[in-house]
Amino acid sequence: MRLDGKVAIVTGGGSGFGEGIARRFAEEGAKVVIADINLKGAKGVAKMIETAGGKALAVNCDVTRKADWTKLVKDATKAFKRIDIVVNNAGMPQRAAPMLGTDEKTFDKIFAVNVKSIYWCAQTVLPVMRKQGGGSIVNIASTAGVRPRPNLVWYNASKGAVITMTKSMAVELAPEKIRVNALNPVAGDTPMLAAFMGGKDTPDIRARFISSVPIGRLSTPRDIANAALYLASDEAEFITGVCMEVDGGRCI
Ligand SMILES: NC(=O)c1ccc[n+]([C@@H]2O[C@H](COP(=O)([O-])OP(=O)(O)OC[C@H]3O[C@@H](n4cnc5c(N)ncnc54)[C@H](O)[C@@H]3O)[C@@H](O)[C@H]2O)c1
Repeated sequence: MRLDGKVAIVTGGGSGFGEGIARRFAEEGAKVVIADINLKGAKGVAKMIETAGGKALAVNCDVTRKADWTKLVKDATKAFKRIDIVVNNAGMPQRAAPMLGTDEKTFDKIFAVNVKSIYWCAQTVLPVMRKQGGGSIVNIASTAGVRPRPNLVWYNASKGAVITMTKSMAVELAPEKIRVNALNPVAGDTPMLAAFMGGKDTPDIRARFISSVPIGRLSTPRDIANAALYLASDEAEFITGVCMEVDGGRCI
């Protein structure tokens, strides 16, 4: 198994891509800590993993809060003794709209969930990884940070920040064997998708999104999970600072 003996935290693991990542990691032998503001969702995913014979822990965590990260790290190390992998997946969309239509509170929330969460992750998780002599962080960015669509300016910018943080962290942490990589998924079939469509998920808008993807479909949690699995595993021990499109060719 590709993650045998590893302990992984997956933020936003109670839904969508995070659920797919948590379940895929567990299939490959990882003990998975599912951290989500939606505890019910996190518990549901933990139960599915345990029913399938894996090990999982659900933790109530708002990734914008330092106190929640501190508790998350404490709970994870208490339950499973170490932290080898963190997938910073929890995210907040912008409802598609012209740029002046987003109020300050929403802007701050987008940046708190998508960007500042990684600052708190670094503050609380790096001391543990340093003590262990290494680790792997996978940030879920987006094709939005590389090939932005109109009407998503602030969300696009937040994912651009995730990509730059990934590369910056990677180069600074490389000598300590802590790898930092990112995935750039294209639009995926998760509860978040409707927001990117302006609030309504209609067949017409779906067709428009799909028409921009050369392989001809949206991304799935399994696509993202398989890519995260590779980056998180020791197979990628020489890979750091990579921001990999998982996008069916959208960014070509
Ligand atoms: N779905 C897409 O089209 C798409 C495309 C590219 C990138 N992404 C990114 O993928 C990631 C996962 O999104 P998804 O599509 O699976 O969405 P989703 O809405 O299905 O899942 C997001 C999860 O994050 C959790 N969350 C939100 N705010 C949180 C907070 N403050 N603290 C802890 N958990 C919080 C939610 O409760 C939810 O379980 C996000 O970072 C998103 O920006 C999504």
